Amino acid sequence: MQDSLIHLSSAGVSLLLDAGGDDLLAIVHWGASLGTLSPEEAATLAQAAVEPVVPNAVDVPIRLSLLPEGWRGWTGKPGIEGHRAGADWSPRFRTSRVTLDGAVVEPSLVESSAGTVVVEAEDADADLRLVLHVQLTDSGVLRAKAVLRNIGATDYELAALNIALPIPPGAREILDFAGRWGKERVPQRSTLMVGIHEREGRKGRTGADAATVLSVGVPGFGFGAGEVWGIHVGFSGNHRSYAERLFSGVQVVGGGELLLPGEIRLKTDEEYSSPWVYGVYGNGLDEQASRLHRMLRGRPEHPRRPRPVTLNVWEAVYFDHDRDRLFDLAESAAPMGIERFVLDDGWFRGRRDDTVGLGDWYVDDEVWPDGLGPLAEHVRALGMEFGLWFEPEMVNPDSDLAREHPEWILATGGRTPVLARNQLVLDLGREDAYDHVLERITAILRMTPVSYIKWDHNRDLVDAGHGCQGVPGVHAQTLGTYRMMQELKRRFPSLEIESCSSGGARVDLGVIEHTDRVWVSDCIDPLERQQMNRWTMQLLPPEMLGSHVASGVSHSTGRSHTLGFRAATALYGHFGVEWDLAAATEDESRELREWIEAHKSYRELLHTGDMVRVDTSDPTLNLYGSVAPDQEAALFVLASIGRSEVAPLGRFTLRGLDPDRRYRVRPVTPGGAPRGLIAPPWFGQDSNGVALTGRALMTAGLHTPAMYPESAILLDVSATS
Ligand code: GLA
Repeated sequence: MQDSLIHLSSAGVSLLLDAGGDDLLAIVHWGASLGTLSPEEAATLAQAAVEPVVPNAVDVPIRLSLLPEGWRGWTGKPGIEGHRAGADWSPRFRTSRVTLDGAVVEPSLVESSAGTVVVEAEDADADLRLVLHVQLTDSGVLRAKAVLRNIGATDYELAALNIALPIPPGAREILDFAGRWGKERVPQRSTLMVGIHEREGRKGRTGADAATVLSVGVPGFGFGAGEVWGIHVGFSGNHRSYAERLFSGVQVVGGGELLLPGEIRLKTDEEYSSPWVYGVYGNGLDEQASRLHRMLRGRPEHPRRPRPVTLNVWEAVYFDHDRDRLFDLAESAAPMGIERFVLDDGWFRGRRDDTVGLGDWYVDDEVWPDGLGPLAEHVRALGMEFGLWFEPEMVNPDSDLAREHPEWILATGGRTPVLARNQLVLDLGREDAYDHVLERITAILRMTPVSYIKWDHNRDLVDAGHGCQGVPGVHAQTLGTYRMMQELKRRFPSLEIESCSSGGARVDLGVIEHTDRVWVSDCIDPLERQQMNRWTMQLLPPEMLGSHVASGVSHSTGRSHTLGFRAATALYGHFGVEWDLAAATEDESRELREWIEAHKSYRELLHTGDMVRVDTSDPTLNLYGSVAPDQEAALFVLASIGRSEVAPLGRFTLRGLDPDRRYRVRPVTPGGAPRGLIAPPWFGQDSNGVALTGRALMTAGLHTPAMYPESAILLDVSATS
């Protein structure tokens, strides 16, 4: 093969790939755009990236491919770990063919905008074949996956297949996420030192504590500025993401599926595909996030019709499925402007609490003697869609299903796994178990007009063994879940699915290929959601984040909040209500109606615009919103989330506007001005606001009003010229 360089470039990102000779594909540059390159410049750049040979290292420069190879002298985390009865553990792949968007790559430099490079390679001694897919999307997201095939006569046991992407030496500050039930995606920063910062997800689900996007950037990077390179593994089972700095100063971010011992044993001609590993560059975290948002919004399956304002009944009734009460709830919801009514856990056989019934997907005829049809029809007659809760992968030991098919439960070591929330996990890697669950959900969906499933998953996979030997079953389980979601969508083409997992423990780009929104957290306390929603948006756009107004006293924290703060916080998301409306006063009902109207009037802007999170000068002030792609309009939320040592906090600036256009900025307070608000003069008579250029608003700014902690106002920004 000839030397060849491929330059992909889109949305301000360049990816210069070296597909030289028969070596495995390597990245010369991934980051800000390099503009147009001549073949000479590209070749010089590739040469300029080669390290000198230093004493006490291997005698040839170490070339780092997307699947880092030990045979070259790379002593960091390898791209492939595996063996064939102890042999073939250090493969050397030789590239036989490289294509760009399907056409074979031959010339010395190929320039393309977005595109997909596919590399075919083989190690004839180790009897392994490899196909690498590397894509730069229209929005500048890099994604890659590797497919490994065993072409030998004996089994090949694969322990890891990691994709690694080089990042420059100036990137030293790590940002990733911690989290737990009720407090997902808590940002944490650290310094990248020599060694590995590795995040392993071993929960058999994405996890409330998942790294989500693991970024490394120049020290001090924020929302608006500072280069960052992030990695995300698009998989809902066990996974790893890491940042590594070597003794040589070479740095990578990488990731892949985390395979359990013996989980992938490839027989002759069998192959394993890694999940997509996403690399996201940005000058600032907002640019990074907006590349992901645009990529997701560009998919044909992205939910496009206005996101229906949702009422979920969980925090209103829990397991108390009283027919009349639920009918009344539907009747109060419709005139409020609610468009979707979701019946949560508790509707199926025996399910009076969380100790019993999971797995028995038959409508409970004690609670619902006429089935769910009458409720669903009532909901539809009121002009709303009907949604229903399922937890398809799970089973209570106290269920007919567990009694009839104990062999369908994931287990190993001849014992039953420890219970979590009184439940065990069904093995969807088994065809019979898979077929049964699919058939049950299908039957319910055929007899009831369900257009939305809240798909829950409420425990970690522990001892999740498959078959009579109890071999690791997480990989097959995860793919089984995806397959079932896909099949249900095929059978019911307008069905939407929400990914819920004890709140937000299944938020990743793997499940997002099959679902339409996520439940961010079981904690709906708006003070917590100010953080959780803003950081979940590092991966997903607001229209995919279930964001509800709950009762005045939060069920998970006991804190009280005004309706204004609860609603203003829920506004920037897929808006909903999770509150017993029968308990709302008349004033509260009126206020909530006004907020629902406000959400609807801004919904298109919020759900199609570019997200902006302003780096405010004070940590007690959150300022964020959405700017229309044509920069005609924007809506910001200005939220006070604490009490500062100074008041009233000076001026704030906006971002994302056209500097040369004039905008009117108006404070908007649906339901009435929040208590404790002291308006600065620019609010004007009748809150008519002020008109200034985008440049003035983004550089000099406007004075912050004085506000009570845990209150918020909206800022409506409209171009006047
Ligand atoms: C999980 C979900 C909740 C609710 C309950 C029902 O905890 O996150 O929203 O659906 O299950 O059991």
